[in-house]
Amino acid sequence: MSTHDTAPAPSTSPRTEVSTEAPATRVQQHRRYLMCRPEHFTVSYKINPWMEPANPTDTALAVSQWQTLYDTYLELGHEVHLIDPIEGLPDMVYTANGGFVIDGVAYGARFRFQERVPEGPAFMEWFRDNGFEVVEPVEVNEGEGDFLLVGDTILAGTGFRSTGDSHRELADVFGKEVMSLTLVDPRFYHLDTAISVLDPVEGPGGVDGANIAYLPGAFDARSQAILAERYPDAIRVADADGAVFGLNSASDGLNVIISPRAKGFEAQLRERGYNPVLVDLSELLLGGGGIKCCTLELRR
Ligand code: ARG
Repeated sequence: MSTHDTAPAPSTSPRTEVSTEAPATRVQQHRRYLMCRPEHFTVSYKINPWMEPANPTDTALAVSQWQTLYDTYLELGHEVHLIDPIEGLPDMVYTANGGFVIDGVAYGARFRFQERVPEGPAFMEWFRDNGFEVVEPVEVNEGEGDFLLVGDTILAGTGFRSTGDSHRELADVFGKEVMSLTLVDPRFYHLDTAISVLDPVEGPGGVDGANIAYLPGAFDARSQAILAERYPDAIRVADADGAVFGLNSASDGLNVIISPRAKGFEAQLRERGYNPVLVDLSELLLGGGGIKCCTLELRR
């Protein structure tokens, strides 16, 4: 697939395997995203096992890796909005945590840890200023980091960050079915580190299934059983690929932006007719985040 690449590459961007040609049956859908340039990125506190404040970070490298992701989305034809980074909020680059947006309604985030609490109102202000209806959260929740839309169902993670009560609030706000899943491995503390929505069309009927990918070991037995029953054709990702944040990826239904270290997952995606696009965010992984963490979907 990568060798049949027809998309012109802007000279500002390192070569990524971007294809706008649909192989087989996968269909690319247009996406609208919110991102935040990591101008103030560093690791100055520790709220997940990946963060080591004693280790140095390279903010310029974080910015250039982030820029590659941003450029890749534009090359693929997507629309990317930006929120201004705020000094003293180094995790703001992980915009997936800033809220959860469906049909122009933004359910705001209420962060678990004090260090990130001020991000909640900052994102809500952006949503308001940009024409979204904002629902102020009562319960602790970390937005699209823990909530993923698949078809008409919201998969909702709990165990480390978002509470079970936020799942109820979420169901009230959007009037959709919410399926609670419990995370048990501290390395995979947000749902978007353990599940990737490849195609938002639900059910084994769509194309040949494989509309989600997940890391079984990140979940408790009850959640594993739910996922197996509900998504029999899902891609089950190996521990080695999960451990390099392979699942923390963004898909447009055809192109799936993933870490270049997730070799097994890359092969699985190709087998199912997806086009893996490799983007390395190694510097942002020092904060415990990857591609999906840096990407919030704005559904209008
Ligand atoms: N340092 C951030 C935190 O621990 C990383 C957030 C990653 N975001 C995500 N959507 N998984 O909160």
